[in-house]
Amino acid sequence: MLGYGSLVWRSDHHAFAAAGIPEINDLVTAAAHRGRGVATRLIAEFEALAVAAGCRAIGLGVGLYADYGPAQRLYASLGYRPDGAGVTYRGHAVVPGSQVALDDDLLLWLTKPLPPTGAI
Ligand SMILES: CC(C)(COP(=O)(O)OP(=O)(O)OC[C@H]1O[C@@H](n2cnc3c(N)ncnc32)[C@H](O)[C@@H]1OP(=O)(O)O)[C@@H](O)C(=O)NCCC(=O)NCCS
Repeated sequence: MLGYGSLVWRSDHHAFAAAGIPEINDLVTAAAHRGRGVATRLIAEFEALAVAAGCRAIGLGVGLYADYGPAQRLYASLGYRPDGAGVTYRGHAVVPGSQVALDDDLLLWLTKPLPPTGAI
C-alpha cells in the first residue's frame, strides 16, 4: 500500500459540518513512498469527489508540531488556507490565555475553495 486517506462528508468539526464542507481525514503516505506525489494524487481525487457532489469548499485539520511539517507545507502549496478561526483542541476553540497540550488533538483548520461542478 502506498497511502490512504478518507473524505468525511459530515465532519466532526462543527464549522465544516455547518457549512457543508467535507473533511479530508487520516491522510498518510507510507514512509518509503513519500515525496512522489501520492498524497497530492489522493487530495486531487478527494477534491474531484467533492466537486462532483456540489461542494464549494473542502477542508482538513492539521497538527501544529514538527511531525506535521510536511503536511503543512503540502497543504499550503496545494492552496489550502487557514479558515481564520484559530486552533481547536479536542473539538473546542482554544481561547487566549488557556493552556493545552501540543499533541495530535491541537489542530489548525484549513479550507480550499472548489470550482463549480464540471469546471475540473
Ligand atoms: C503529509 C504526507 C501525507 C505527504 O505525503 P506525500 O505522498 O509525501 O506527499 P506528496 O509526495 O504528494 O508531496 C510531498 C512533497 O513532495 C513534492 N512532490 C510531489 N511529487 C513529487 C515528485 N514526483 N518529485 C519530487 N517531489 C515531489 C510535493 O510538491 C511536496 O513538496 P512540498 O513539501 O514542497 O509541499 C506524508 O508526509 C505523511 O504521511 N506524513 C505523516 C502523516 C501526516 O502528517 N499526515 C497528515 C495529517 S494532517
